Amino acid sequence: MDVNGLQKAQEALDAEIKSFFNSAPPLRNIEDIGKDLRKFVEFNSPQAGNQSARKVVCVTSGGTTVPLEQRCVRYIDNFSSGHRGAASTEYFLKAGYSVIFLYRKGTRQPYCSLLPDDPFLECLEFTQESGIQARQPYSEAVKNAISEHHAAIANGTLLKLPFTTIFEYLQMLHLVAISMRSVGPHALFYLAAAVSDFYVPWESMAEHKIQSGSGPLDMRLVQVPKMLSGLRSEWAPMAYCISFKLETDVKILLEKADAALRKYKMHMVIANELLTRKEEVTLVTTNEKIHVRRDPKLVGDNVEEHIVKHIVKKHSAYVDNFDHKVSRA
Ligand code: PMT
Repeated sequence: MDVNGLQKAQEALDAEIKSFFNSAPPLRNIEDIGKDLRKFVEFNSPQAGNQSARKVVCVTSGGTTVPLEQRCVRYIDNFSSGHRGAASTEYFLKAGYSVIFLYRKGTRQPYCSLLPDDPFLECLEFTQESGIQARQPYSEAVKNAISEHHAAIANGTLLKLPFTTIFEYLQMLHLVAISMRSVGPHALFYLAAAVSDFYVPWESMAEHKIQSGSGPLDMRLVQVPKMLSGLRSEWAPMAYCISFKLETDVKILLEKADAALRKYKMHMVIANELLTRKEEVTLVTTNEKIHVRRDPKLVGDNVEEHIVKHIVKKHSAYVDNFDHKVSRA
């Protein structure tokens, strides 16, 4: 595409993004979210003399929904369990990062991977002598989940922000990105959420429950504008940005990841295939492709632990390079 063509494509994307945000139903608790974010970022910001300063990562996790009615009865959802985001959050915290965990309500939570699906009913029991207590064999897992989670919240290193719809997710990601500007190159985006590609614009959505009985449902879904280039160039231009590429056909996976790296100017794209995503991924950067695999023979070995180790190194090099450039200027 020539320069003219590129400029036109950019203008069209800008118009789509503007129209998405203008027509999205406003976030209900935007003031509280803004307040929590300001407090969290200020606490962790690398200003001179701040003893609590840390690198800050925004981990997105779980899938966005697409409502079909304004008073929503039905919606389109996707497969994402939130495992990748929740496990990665634990490893980032362990590596000394503070984490903004932007997650789909009801999906996997950090420190809960060893708990059963219904921990409240399965892990607790009531006895006349001691009231409510953890049952075996879960008591160790419950104790760790509670203490690690509470410590991260109390230390100001974990902020959890829930979303459900694509409208909420993208507005919240925008808010988070703008709030994280003051963290400069110490900010990292790790976009593991499975983001809807198509949606029904709010203004063309039925207000009430769509009635059945009048034949097939005819509905037009519009493409969700990709926000990745906006995030990189405008929302958080100094941050290190990592997106994911998910495919079901392994033959096109790396090619697609490479294309995303170039098109959206990501610092890294993590390529994963649906069925093997818990076993292996490839970290794609402009210079290299690092294949990362969990060792199935090692109990408790998670692919996320390896991913985060590599990212921590790459992000450190990025920050050093940034500081070096600033000191030479
Ligand atoms: O949650 P789990 O069950 O553990 O699964 C983890 C995962 C497979 C969901 C995760 O590893 C993953 O791949 N997440 C990204 C899924 C996805 O949306 O892939 P995509 O190829 O459709 O999109 C690529 C990137 O573009 C994503 O990082 C997404 O943030 C971004 N995107 C997508 C659509 C859109 N309209 N705007 C976007 O910015």
